[in-house]
Amino acid sequence: MSTFTIDTSTSRATPSPVPGKRMTAPSIRARKVDGKTEQPIVMLTAYTMRMAQLLDPHCDMLLVGDSLGQVIYGLPSTIPVTMDMMCAHGAAVVRGSWHALVAVDMPFGSYEQSPAQAFECASRIMKETGCAAVKLEGGEAMAPTIEFLTHRGIPVIGHVGLTPQAVNILGGYGARGKSKDEAKHIEADALAVAQAGAFCIVVEGVMEDIATRIAKSVEVPIIGIGASQDCDGQVLVIDDMLGMFERTPRFVKRYDDLAGRISEAAANYAREVRDRSFPTADQTYRPKT
Ligand code: KIV
Repeated sequence: MSTFTIDTSTSRATPSPVPGKRMTAPSIRARKVDGKTEQPIVMLTAYTMRMAQLLDPHCDMLLVGDSLGQVIYGLPSTIPVTMDMMCAHGAAVVRGSWHALVAVDMPFGSYEQSPAQAFECASRIMKETGCAAVKLEGGEAMAPTIEFLTHRGIPVIGHVGLTPQAVNILGGYGARGKSKDEAKHIEADALAVAQAGAFCIVVEGVMEDIATRIAKSVEVPIIGIGASQDCDGQVLVIDDMLGMFERTPRFVKRYDDLAGRISEAAANYAREVRDRSFPTADQTYRPKT
C-alpha cells in the first residue's frame, strides 16, 4: 500500500506544488557535459518532512541517508538500519519536497545478496516513498546489481571510497586511498559503477587527488563528501552542517551551532516554567471582553 501523496494542493507538506518540476535522474546526469559540470550539484541529507521543506528550495537532491541510524535513532553504525526505517523517512521527505530529486539509501542487507534481492527491496522503497532513485554502496562487486536495477526502471546513485556499511571490513571510518593500490581500486570502482549505469556517484572520505582524478575521468557527476573541491557536487549530513553534534569529521563545515541554540532555548523555557513567567496572557485562552 502506498504511504505517500505527491503534490496535492490540500497537503500541508506541499503548500506550493509545481507538478512536473521535480529534478529527475536524467536532469542530474545531464548537468555534466563533456566531463564538466557548469554549476555544482547541491545535495544534503534529510530525514523528516519539515527539514525537507526547509532544504528543498536550496538543493538539487535530498538524500534520505542510512546515516539516519546514527543521526535519528542513536545507533552505533548504519548496520542495524532497516527497510521499514528507510521507507518511513523516505516517504516523509518526499511529502516535504517538490523540487529536489529525493534519493533513498538501500540499507545494509537489502541488496548485496543478489540483483533480484536488490530489485525487490529497491522497488518496495520506490513504491512506499515515491522517491526517484536509490543509493547503494560498493564498487566493482555491485556493478552487475546496478546494471540489473537501471535496466528495470530504478535509477541508482553509486557510493564508493569510504563505504560506512563496510565498517566491519574496513575497521573504521578513516579516509581511504592512502596506498597506491587502494587508490587504484577506488578509481576502478567509480568507473565500474558509472559503466553499470549509475546516474551519479557519491565519493566519500578519500584522499583529495583520487576524488579529483575520478571527477575528471568518470563521465557521470561525482558528488563529494570528504573528497575534493573538484567534484561535480557536494553532499553533507544535515545535522553535521547545522552543528547538532559536538564532534564532527574533519571534512564537515559547520554552518550553524544549532545544538547550542536549542540548548539555550530549552534552558530559557525551563527557567520561565519554573518562575511562572510562561505562559502569559498571550498564550492562554480567555473569554472575549
Ligand atoms: O547515509 C548518508 O548520509 C550518506 C551520505 C554521507 C553520503 O550516505
